[in-house]
Amino acid sequence: MSINVGEVVAVRGTQVTLRIFEESSLETLYYDGKKYKGVSIREYIGVKRGFCLIVCVIEGEYLDENRFDIDNNKKQYIRKVEIKPIGYFEQNQFTDGIKLMPMIKDKAFLLNESQVIQVFSQGTDGNFNIGKMLKEDLPVSLPWHKIFNSHIGIFGNTGSGKSNTLTKLYSELFANYEDKLKGKSKFLLIDFNGEYTGNQLIKDADNKKTYKLSTGNRQGNKFPLPCSQIWNTEILALLFQATSNTQTPFLNRVIVKREKHKERADSLKDYVISTFYICFVNPAQNKEFLIHLKVIAKHLNHRPLIEKLDGIFWYDQGDKFAYKPQQGVNWEWFETEQGFNDNLRPLLAAVDTAQVDTFDELVVRINIQLLRDLTYGYIQFDHIQPLLKRVEASIKDLHKIFDIKENTDDEFKLLNVVSLRNCNQANKKIVPLLLAKMFYQGHRDTVENTPNKTLHFIIDEAHNILSQQSNREHESWKDYRLEMFEEIVKEGRKFGMYLTLSSQRPADISSTIMSQVHNFFIHRLVNDKDLFLIDNTISTLDRMSKSLIPNLSKGSCVITGTAFDLPIVMQVDYIEEKESRPDSDDVDLGVLWGINEEDA
Ligand SMILES: Nc1ncnc2c1ncn2[C@@H]1O[C@H](COP(=O)(O)OP(=O)(O)OP(=O)(O)O)[C@@H](O)[C@H]1O
Ligand SMILES: [Mg+2]
Repeated sequence: MSINVGEVVAVRGTQVTLRIFEESSLETLYYDGKKYKGVSIREYIGVKRGFCLIVCVIEGEYLDENRFDIDNNKKQYIRKVEIKPIGYFEQNQFTDGIKLMPMIKDKAFLLNESQVIQVFSQGTDGNFNIGKMLKEDLPVSLPWHKIFNSHIGIFGNTGSGKSNTLTKLYSELFANYEDKLKGKSKFLLIDFNGEYTGNQLIKDADNKKTYKLSTGNRQGNKFPLPCSQIWNTEILALLFQATSNTQTPFLNRVIVKREKHKERADSLKDYVISTFYICFVNPAQNKEFLIHLKVIAKHLNHRPLIEKLDGIFWYDQGDKFAYKPQQGVNWEWFETEQGFNDNLRPLLAAVDTAQVDTFDELVVRINIQLLRDLTYGYIQFDHIQPLLKRVEASIKDLHKIFDIKENTDDEFKLLNVVSLRNCNQANKKIVPLLLAKMFYQGHRDTVENTPNKTLHFIIDEAHNILSQQSNREHESWKDYRLEMFEEIVKEGRKFGMYLTLSSQRPADISSTIMSQVHNFFIHRLVNDKDLFLIDNTISTLDRMSKSLIPNLSKGSCVITGTAFDLPIVMQVDYIEEKESRPDSDDVDLGVLWGINEEDA
């Protein structure tokens, strides 16, 4: 059997006390050629009960005093340990949960290494290893088939090893099953700091695509967006943070209008011409309209038209628009059909709308809608103007980071990394949300009832977009942002869409999202708020593992959740090869400042 180290002396509820024999206090013991760990806190021990070996975890120890009256009050101490059952071996098979409870006088035995591995690797195929158990130093295999079909949370203070763990987890997945995943699953990694843009995660470069988006001066890559996704009210409302009462319905009208005539080749051009017509051939021309017509011309990118409009001015005496050509030629007017046909229509007819890209078309259509709505008195300018300002402001960035295509099905690889390192704050918030929404919608609409493919959305530094506290942004926009992810986290699993979040401040993340995460990798966390939240949201975390969290070293983490029967405290392997690990190394000041150890 194994080494008998003690016996049960008390049982209260699930709390069992053992008396430990004196000779059993060694750190490591050998018996029958096998290595055993001695009795100490957080170790495992077995209590024999009939044919069952009840596996218990040691939670505490103390000395109990024994007095012998005969020998003149001589005192003797006996060592006692408190243990709690967590599962049992029956016919060499480990099952977790309490079936039998130990009884007084039952014998306690040490567990050998293979038994400990069996306890923590149950139900796995034995070859998914990302690290070793912290205390026992034994490799544990994780049940990958239960981890990757769930929402995963990786939490810990900065520098505690989250990025390393995330990389290790997915590298291991790809290293083992890369070929089998192809065509069935897609992985999208949102990388705020450009840590994964090299050769990380996947060995075969053909299976990875990196998009380095940039809104700054640096030239970046463009992310392909399907055209159909842009002409979608919800997406546009999200892109331009439209308010729900007036601005979103306005955007909706823009889209409906386009949808109606989209089959006709010249629909945009006709629409432009008729709008100019309405604005000019009108007994009551509106002075304010010119500025919008100029915007339209600018985005149609037609030089003669732009120049013409630049020359048009408001003639106060007549309360109408006029154009003054060079000296000696008569002024031009536009308020009659004749004037319009002679002076403006030929220019408009020459516009080539085929070369107008989607974003420009969007601006054109929004301005047209505004002019028409104003003419017919549908809207108040003040309500729409902020939207127009936002559209104008963001369109330049959107041009830089997106590439609109008819069809993007073939664009994506098994793993797609989107680096937002060179994007400005506004886009750091919007782009992940937009991608989440698009991929989620696209995926949801194409999967069958039992998902035949899966989508894995990985966000390192997720507090950037999931934080509840943010004073800079509008309340309703914040709600919208969070609701989006809450929907994915609540409904996504059914459609085979899974989130992996990594964050420094779990307390900042919306509690709805936190409460739906299934599996947790918790690194060192010291803040009380974070610990409190962890305590409240993770039901599978036991008291002892929890008490370790503030003192975990780099790369150590407590792993718990629905995929695991018992919390595991693990030291995740450090990724040795420089090019396979995330670009997040601590700065070595010695090297940076050129100071050797001896000089210091
Ligand atoms: N398992 C590990 N063993 C040893 N060192 C590690 C381990 N994991 C990470 N490190 C080291 O710790 C440092 C920080 O790691 P990492 O970037 O993974 O932390 P992080 O939690 O993602 O930090 P941040 O929140 O700032 O992104 C790096 O220098 C890395 O080399
Ligand atoms: Mg990190």
